[in-house]
Amino acid sequence: MRLVVVSNRVTIPDRHEKATAGGLAVALREALERHGGLWFGWSGVVGAARQLRETQRGNVTYAVTDLSEAERESYYLGFSNRALWPIMHYRLGLTEFQRSDYMGYLGVNRRFARELAGMIRPDDVIWIHDYHLIPLAAELRRRGVTNRIGYFHHIPWPSADTLTALPFSATLVRTLAAYDLIGMQTQLDTRNLIDCLMTLCGAKSDGRRVRLGARETVVQPFPIGIDVEAFRRLAAASARQAATPLRATRESLGERKLVIGVDRLDYSKGIVQRLEAFGQFLRSHPEERGRVGLLQIAPPSRSDVPEYAELDRMSDEVAGRLNAQLGEFDWTPIRVVKKAYSRTALAGLYRRAQVGLVTPMRDGMNLVAKEYIAAQNPVDPGVLVLSRFAGAAQQLGEALIVNPYDTHEVAEAIRTALAMPKSERIRRFEALYHVIETSGIHWWTRRYLEALTDAPAAAEDAEPPRKAGAKAEQPARRAGARNRPAVPERGEAKGAAAGAGRKRVSTPAETSHLTLVR
Ligand code: F6P
Repeated sequence: MRLVVVSNRVTIPDRHEKATAGGLAVALREALERHGGLWFGWSGVVGAARQLRETQRGNVTYAVTDLSEAERESYYLGFSNRALWPIMHYRLGLTEFQRSDYMGYLGVNRRFARELAGMIRPDDVIWIHDYHLIPLAAELRRRGVTNRIGYFHHIPWPSADTLTALPFSATLVRTLAAYDLIGMQTQLDTRNLIDCLMTLCGAKSDGRRVRLGARETVVQPFPIGIDVEAFRRLAAASARQAATPLRATRESLGERKLVIGVDRLDYSKGIVQRLEAFGQFLRSHPEERGRVGLLQIAPPSRSDVPEYAELDRMSDEVAGRLNAQLGEFDWTPIRVVKKAYSRTALAGLYRRAQVGLVTPMRDGMNLVAKEYIAAQNPVDPGVLVLSRFAGAAQQLGEALIVNPYDTHEVAEAIRTALAMPKSERIRRFEALYHVIETSGIHWWTRRYLEALTDAPAAAEDAEPPRKAGAKAEQPARRAGARNRPAVPERGEAKGAAAGAGRKRVSTPAETSHLTLVR
């Protein structure tokens, strides 16, 4: 088998990149190298020339295409990031829908399918990533691609009731039936997607397998992880070497404690609410003033989207106000740094911080939470304060779980974390470390690919170990799933599941979707 990965952005590795590439990029590259493969997607460049450019690195081909300015506006900034992103993060008030953006989104997916279809070999297994590319499999199937195709949704999936506010949501959701396997971050996302397929599209499901028309798709959670050992080593080395940002931070902090937040500058991350919560903490506990500081690292993101520009302005305003109200001539309570740092520097900063503040309003998984744990010194670890609305909270129940909408609760969790006795910090750290270690990024790629290629027993036990007593949203209605109409056994309906060598069946759903594209 050859592996074909498709993602919105593709970064072609160069010699210097090892220290900056994230765990996901590294793990996907490793999987591609293991099987031999192709990685296809947008080059990240906006230009008039849209021909495919291929670069060979070992046994992996990177095939990238530029987007035109109109495509970037409609497909990327418009439909992906002003419509899908907010609605998937439960932010109806921020969702901006334009028909022309949706047409552009479908158009780019159609173009990607056209360019990719010609490169597909019979033994390829295709793995498509994220919300930019939901209809890609339907477009590939339309071009006669019968290979196994998987999709992984990196961000949350809301309830059917929320999603229906998005025009054409039913036609878009229906295109997901073209996949053989859909991976989600959590049980909640899995349940929500299956509900959408059932209530919006009339699919039938047993809670895992979904049947829509002649197709059968498996939907299940595969919570993404990090390369724990690599990150742990990075943090330990960074602490020893005391590289520049870390040394400078240490010198400027002196004996003061450090609370750290690291996020793309995105409204889903709850940065403004977090700053307010830190201000509340200092107001409620004046004895802590001068003894602790918050460092918020927030590299700018999607700045051409108005909601992000507004967040940029608001975060400056809130940090400035709180510093002016609460700071002293020799102490600045909050530092917001809007630029990206190397992974080595971040690992060292996480290790130096007594508290990791990861409080998104909603997040698919949040790998910063896992990186913070991996970076800790096992004999004197810091404490993770984690939003109950991050997918990671489903696994990391030994963190201090908070509701990010409740400023007082977050403020008190900061206080609890700073005052926590060492024995309890170690106990919590060990439990959390065990979870992230046993469900790391290599576990994730292996389990997903085994399930996609239908290896024995792979799909059944994809849920990793999880700490008992996790207080976050529980996979509540699991029993309810059992009450849903059962899916007929494989083979009951002819051509039920697509797979290599099977004949392609065009469903009415695809047809109506494609009418719309044209
Ligand atoms: O999963 C969320 C995601 O869209 C990823 O696909 C991407 O790597 C990240 O957020 C950053 O987003 P962007 O590519 O829009 O800068």
